[in-house]
Amino acid sequence: MSSDDLAQHDALQADDKLMAQVVSRRTFLKATLGLFAAGWVSMMVYPFFRYLTSSVKLSGAEEVTSVSLGGAETLAPGTGKNFQFGSKPALIVRDTDGTFHAYDAMCTHLGCTVQFKDAKDGIWCACHGGKYDPSTGKNIAGPPPKPLAKLDVAVVEGNIIVSKPGVTLSNKAVES
Ligand code: FES
Repeated sequence: MSSDDLAQHDALQADDKLMAQVVSRRTFLKATLGLFAAGWVSMMVYPFFRYLTSSVKLSGAEEVTSVSLGGAETLAPGTGKNFQFGSKPALIVRDTDGTFHAYDAMCTHLGCTVQFKDAKDGIWCACHGGKYDPSTGKNIAGPPPKPLAKLDVAVVEGNIIVSKPGVTLSNKAVES
């Protein structure tokens, strides 16, 4: 084999290696883009799915008008917790001054469940970073277009009672 043949052979091998690297980079890029696209689609579709499924109401199911959450001392000032109001997610927050506020916990953007994060960040939606004021339920940041729907809160004989607005205590069928 002449030196020209050897040089040509080496050049061909180098081309093959380069081609293999290009193909593997291309494959890696395609796989990465595919994963990114799948994640993005899931992120967009999931809140919409939750929005559609959370509004389903079983006909004949008894409508809950009030829920007892137990003793007022179980929720420290400056904290909050999620609970079920019948079939719907709800949220109660206690201000640092001791005042209670309760809301329908369905985000007004696409229906994800919101939660109380802390005194600084207030009520937060993990789906797209929406934020609400814990004392008023007003939408204050992110995509939510309107405030959270309010629920009434009363402390009756030391127990926190959350009810639908306009439901008087004498008519309440309290579910605990
Ligand atoms: S569902 Fe989008 S911010 Fe809550």
